[in-house]
Amino acid sequence: MAFETIIAEVQDHVSLIKLNRPDALNALNSVLLQELCAAVEEAEANDKVRCIVITGSEKAFAAGADIKEMAEMSFVDVFTGNLFADVNDRISAIRKPIIAAVSGYALGGGCEIAMMCDFIIAADTAKFGQPEINLGVIAGMGGSQRLTRFVGKSKSMDMNLTGRFMGAEEAERAGLVSRVVPAKKLIEEAMAAAQKIAEKSLLTAAAAKEAVNRSYELTLSEGILFERRVFHSMFATEDQKEGMAAFLEKREAQFRDK
Ligand code: CAA
Repeated sequence: MAFETIIAEVQDHVSLIKLNRPDALNALNSVLLQELCAAVEEAEANDKVRCIVITGSEKAFAAGADIKEMAEMSFVDVFTGNLFADVNDRISAIRKPIIAAVSGYALGGGCEIAMMCDFIIAADTAKFGQPEINLGVIAGMGGSQRLTRFVGKSKSMDMNLTGRFMGAEEAERAGLVSRVVPAKKLIEEAMAAAQKIAEKSLLTAAAAKEAVNRSYELTLSEGILFERRVFHSMFATEDQKEGMAAFLEKREAQFRDK
C-alpha cells in the first residue's frame, strides 16, 4: 500500500516503519495514525515479516497527537468518534514483536505509541514526556496507565503533572527503555535486535509476547499459571523439538514456526 505520512519497507524479514511528517515533528494526525495501523497490520499479515520496527526522524519519534487537528474538537466529537481507541486496539492486537526505535522527542501520543510497542530502544538524544497538561487535557492513549506501569507512580505523576521531559538515561534507569545507543547507531541497533528476534521461532516469540503482556492484566499466581500452561503447550510444537535437539547437537536451530 502507498502511504502519505509514513515510509514502510521490509528488510531481511523486518518491517521498518518510519513516521514521516518532518514539518510537524511527526505529529500524529488522523491520516498518520490510520496509515501506521494499516502498516503494522500489513506487516502482521506478511509471511516474510518476523519482526516490526517503528521509528521516526532524528529530531522526533513523534511530538504527540496533532494539536492543530484537535484544537477545535468538542466533547461530542471526541466521545462519539472514540478518539484514539482505534490505534490503541489495533497496535495492541499485533502478535508479531514490535520494537520502537526512538530518537528525539517522544511526547504525548508519541511516547504512548512507543509504549504500545514491545520494547523501546532509545537514542541518547531521546526525550520522553506526557505534556498534555500544558494543553488543558490529560494523556489519551495510555500515558497515565502504561507509563505508570513502566516507571512507577512517583515518576509517572511527575511527568503527567509537571509535563517535564525525561532524557534517555533517566528513561533507561526508570525502566521505560530497554537500552540506550548513540543516535547515529539507532536504526542499526534496532534492526540488529529485530534480526535476532527474526531468527527465533515466530510461534514461540508470539507466545513469549503474549505471556509478558498478560503480566499487566493478571495477579501473580494467575500470571504464573498462564505462563506455565503456555510453556507446557510449547511441547506440542516442532520448534521445541528442533530447538532442544539443535542445542544437544551443538548446531544452529532451524525453526519452522510449527
Ligand atoms: N501537533 C501539531 N503540530 C506540532 C506538534 C503537535 N503535537 N508538535 C510540533 N508541531 C509543529 C509545530 O507547530 C511547528 O509547526 P510550524 O512550523 O508550522 O509552526 C513544527 O511542528 C515544529 O515545532 P516547533 O517549532 O514547536 O519546534 P521546537 O523545536 O521549537 O519545539 C517541541 C519542539 C518541544 C516538541 C514542541 O514542538 C512542542 O512542545 N510540541 C507539542 C508537544 C505536545 O504538547 N505533545 C502532546 C500533544 S497532545 C497528545 O499527544 C494527546 C494524547 O495523549 C494522545
